Amino acid sequence: MARQDLEQTARALVAEGKGILAADETVPTVTKRLSALHIESTADSRRTYREMFFTTPGAGEFISGAILYDETIRQNSSSGIPLTEVLTKQGIIPGIKVDTGAKPLAGASDETVTEGLDGLRDRLKEYYGLGARFAKWRAVIRVTEQLPSSTCINVNAHALGRYAALCQEAGLVPIVEPEVLMDGGHTIERCEEVTGCVLHAVFNALYDQRIVLEQMLLKPSMIISGKSCPNQASVDEVATATLRCLRRHVPAAVPGIVFLSGGQSDVLATKHLNAINRLDLPRPWKVSFSYGRALQDQALQAWQGKAEQFQAGQQSFYHRAKCNGAAALGRYTAALEGAVAR
Ligand code: 13P
Repeated sequence: MARQDLEQTARALVAEGKGILAADETVPTVTKRLSALHIESTADSRRTYREMFFTTPGAGEFISGAILYDETIRQNSSSGIPLTEVLTKQGIIPGIKVDTGAKPLAGASDETVTEGLDGLRDRLKEYYGLGARFAKWRAVIRVTEQLPSSTCINVNAHALGRYAALCQEAGLVPIVEPEVLMDGGHTIERCEEVTGCVLHAVFNALYDQRIVLEQMLLKPSMIISGKSCPNQASVDEVATATLRCLRRHVPAAVPGIVFLSGGQSDVLATKHLNAINRLDLPRPWKVSFSYGRALQDQALQAWQGKAEQFQAGQQSFYHRAKCNGAAALGRYTAALEGAVAR
């Protein structure tokens, strides 16, 4: 794979005013989301759910890429077209989640290491053949007063490096996702300290393993207060701390940073992204989104699994994508949010 192609894909994924839809929930996770609304989870209902997003008219105006799960990348649309083709026709680049999940880390309590390296070279080759042009691997870092351990940080960073190297070899742009969880009562300062340490270890591992920085994207969590911290940082504080941390730790050669939403409400995730992009500090990389829940939850609520509400779900998704597209440019406003009744 020519270096130029990978770089081009990485840049296309963070094109002006566009970001990524993370629709790569595993079957158990998507089942949980559907069941909460009493929608039966079958291969068909999951396909319809995904198709609702992928066929939304105009989605390609704000969505550059969609991350799929193994089941979805092999499915056809209701009219018999491979879902990867449906995406490509919308101008959306298909991607694929390739880790096999966070598993308990031996010798540690309450920490995980993300697995999926065994056989990865062959799986990447197959996914490329199925149309994927980028991939995702999520490492999970839990924060308490004692955690994360340096063991947890280092093994996860090493695995991210192994994964990224194999992706670049296979012609796929790796999205490197070290998620620092927002669960817990920690302060925003502690989140910044941990995230800085994690990013330092991750870029060290990427350097060690000869990753071409121009051919990857970073998908971090934002610097925010723990969910149960009594003192919740403001939108401006989150933006300032997040950009400070990223400027300290992410090399300028990386084309883009695409945040995960991590359990933030959809509107807050948009506001945070917007505030980061409005700060008057140099940003050598594009700063955009790769949201799962924050892009899909509103649409799922509108759809409710009912055929007659399929379009309402699409309208809702289009609206959220548009708001986030604006936030990626620092142009999100309350008026834009209010343009559709919530
Ligand atoms: P959330 O935006 O719901 O956190 O999902 C993004 C993602 O891809 C997590 O791995």
